Amino acid sequence: MPIDDLYATIGEAPITRLVASFYSQIAADDILGPMYPADDLAGAEQRLRDFLIGRFGGPQHYIEQRGHPRLRMRHAEFHIDKRARDRWIELMTKAVDECAFPAEARETVLDFFRTMATFMINAH
Ligand code: HEM
Repeated sequence: MPIDDLYATIGEAPITRLVASFYSQIAADDILGPMYPADDLAGAEQRLRDFLIGRFGGPQHYIEQRGHPRLRMRHAEFHIDKRARDRWIELMTKAVDECAFPAEARETVLDFFRTMATFMINAH
């Protein structure tokens, strides 16, 4: 399934659930927890949710509010090595499974996350 057909296929609720489930694991994570803003996790959750909704073919709230994603640049301030990338994918895979993300979209979304997360690596 093409990534930008996801929103039309599964709707918004599973995306909201997925991101909530991902973020519910962040604060307690020894690698990722310290990177995220402890006082604005709800804001971070909303930014990722809005980005994914747009990227999956839904409304472009993220671009309206934040402009062009330029995600590699926006991640430059964080130390993202392979360990951090793998942990991000581990938590996101748990989220996909825990929130009963629609089975027909599971591999599409995980492939997308794996590719994007590798692209975000900026440290050794
Ligand atoms: C590879 C491991 C990754 C790490 C360690 C990481 C870490 C972070 C951190 C610490 C933030 C700041 C939270 C905030 O205040 O918004 C952030 C923001 C964000 N991340 Fe990641 N991220 C990773 C991968 C990804 C991937 C794969 C995507 C997309 C599929 C993504 C999408 C975003 C978006 C959209 C934002 C908000 C950017 C903004 O508008 O400022 N990240 N990330």
